[in-house]
Amino acid sequence: MELAKDLELDGLFEVRQPPGSNPVVAAENISAHYPFSKERALDNVTFKLMPGELVALVGPNGAGKSTLFNILSGVNRRYSGKLAIEGATLAEKQRSSCVTYMPQEGQIDWDYPILVQDVVTLGLYGMVRNQRWRRLFGLSDYSQEHRASALRALQAVEMEALSDRDIGTLSGGQKKRVFLARALAQQARLLLLDEPLAGVDQRSEDVIVKVLAQMAAQGATVFMASHDIAGARHYANRILLLNKRIIGMGPPEDVINETMLNKVFGRSLHFF
Ligand SMILES: Nc1ncnc2c1ncn2[C@@H]1O[C@H](COP(=O)(O)OP(=O)(O)OP(=O)(O)O)[C@@H](O)[C@H]1O
Ligand SMILES: [Mg+2]
Repeated sequence: MELAKDLELDGLFEVRQPPGSNPVVAAENISAHYPFSKERALDNVTFKLMPGELVALVGPNGAGKSTLFNILSGVNRRYSGKLAIEGATLAEKQRSSCVTYMPQEGQIDWDYPILVQDVVTLGLYGMVRNQRWRRLFGLSDYSQEHRASALRALQAVEMEALSDRDIGTLSGGQKKRVFLARALAQQARLLLLDEPLAGVDQRSEDVIVKVLAQMAAQGATVFMASHDIAGARHYANRILLLNKRIIGMGPPEDVINETMLNKVFGRSLHFF
């Protein structure tokens, strides 16, 4: 994929754990059932995500994708089964900045007055938490260096020109890019992204996919829901087909075929 300027994440973003080590997410027999609903939203879902993987979660409307993201991010606690993030429970991970979650469009409340650059700088909070001594000397929590890396993260998603704007004034695609800049700044090790490409133009899609692929190459684990099967088979290392239960999971070439897609979507997609 061609990008106007070379994206350089070296030095800006790097997950310091060897790829191929322990699972970042281990989900075992996860089931979920909303009150007053006849059937389960998720049925015995078991999978692992490894460091450095970009995994696309594909399934029809109502397949349980958002339900799964809400469970993985700790928003929805009404589930059964076992869940571990980097070998720890969700409760243990709650205050950690290693996990970042972008809800599906419409669920993000950005409607408060905060500048784009501050949204990204706030992603550095995990790093400055132990530097409160700075206040004793009348210094801001965030150093010049922190602000510079926030700006570099904005440059990586080509949003530096909008750094002085109120986040609420940005378009949907621009907000998604800023969200990614914050994930870069906070050195997120696990990115849970619910349809990050929905409603974005080709340019934004290119930038988002490129940054995500590079973050995965630098050791992050990216788990993203997508309806774009054709695109997912180019950029995903693995695809997880979901329709309340797992229909298939594996490299795109093993999972994206007519039989599988028929099973998930219940009809032929005339895709081949
Ligand atoms: N808060 C809720 N209360 C009751 N039922 C819900 C709730 N949220 C989701 N559901 C139901 O659970 C099922 C799974 O929904 P979910 O939002 O997880 O699907 P999805 O795969 O994200 O769909 P989409 O592609 O439309 O975003 C659906 O049948 C939905 O109607
Ligand atoms: Mg959804």
